[in-house]
Amino acid sequence: MTHIPYIIVLGNEKGGTGKSTVSMHLITSLLRQGYAVGSIDVDARQGTLTRYVENRTLRKNAKQQDLPLPTHIPLFKSEMGDRTQAEADEQTRFDQTINNLKDMDYIVIDTPGSDSYLSRLAHSYADTLITPLNDSFIDLDMLVRVNSDSLTIVKPSTYSEMVWDQKKQKAIRSGGSIDWIVLRNRLSSLNSRNKEEMEKVLGALSKRIGFRTLPGFGERVIFRELFLSGLTLLDMRENNMTMSLSHIAAKQELASLMDMIQLPKTQKKAAKVG
Ligand SMILES: Nc1ncnc2c1ncn2[C@@H]1O[C@H](COP(=O)(O)OP(=O)(O)OP(=O)(O)O)[C@@H](O)[C@H]1O
Ligand SMILES: [Mg+2]
Repeated sequence: MTHIPYIIVLGNEKGGTGKSTVSMHLITSLLRQGYAVGSIDVDARQGTLTRYVENRTLRKNAKQQDLPLPTHIPLFKSEMGDRTQAEADEQTRFDQTINNLKDMDYIVIDTPGSDSYLSRLAHSYADTLITPLNDSFIDLDMLVRVNSDSLTIVKPSTYSEMVWDQKKQKAIRSGGSIDWIVLRNRLSSLNSRNKEEMEKVLGALSKRIGFRTLPGFGERVIFRELFLSGLTLLDMRENNMTMSLSHIAAKQELASLMDMIQLPKTQKKAAKVG
């Protein structure tokens, strides 16, 4: 039986919601569990994930640390002027990239915070799509138009419609489906009216548009302070950091996220890479 890697895509056409941050933490978590992980940066122009992996590689080599690494491939937009040719070129290079990573257990794909053909293509290959969302009605606007008085849903917005289209593309191509997860990121520990209202709208919306919501990461410095060293909170030993209460809570958030994503257990467990 041929082995097909399980594909996790991080997507949201709203910028700065945590796609690259969540990507890197998922990758490290899967690597630390001993899986072979491929990663693709479809946002190669900005290159946040690419640089995170580069920083990790530099760290590993400089300090001779046993840091597991993904097999990482940045994917740039086609430079062809003609749109049809450019899309064909991107399709070919995307297929080649997936093929180059065919021996991986998982592939994690980070996408840009804006619409592009490559990003749509990546969405249509997702087995699991994770959409991080800040607790703000500005971020929610990308998913749905909400009536401000009654907090009722007026209609799905651009990004939801795009995901719906890519679900259809995937069904046509392979008969497969996409498990769509909306992840609330940078949650404050305080209860607020805004938080409750977001919860209410997301609950109603999830049934209507077809996603499930998960609590993601809290607003914590540890999720952003290790970028330059290429480390994450799962590499605290390599960073000689003592665990604070906030670090322990962050680790729990990541562990429970990995649990609730419910990745298939049937994957081949590869020898530890790196
Ligand atoms: N849980 C968190 N706690 C604290 N800071 C966070 C958290 N998640 C993300 N950030 C910070 O928020 C900013 C945006 O995160 P990130 O770059 O991961 O978002 P993105 O969706 O990939 O953005 P873009 O759309 O530009 O690619 C970064 O400065 C990051 O360090
Ligand atoms: Mg990003």
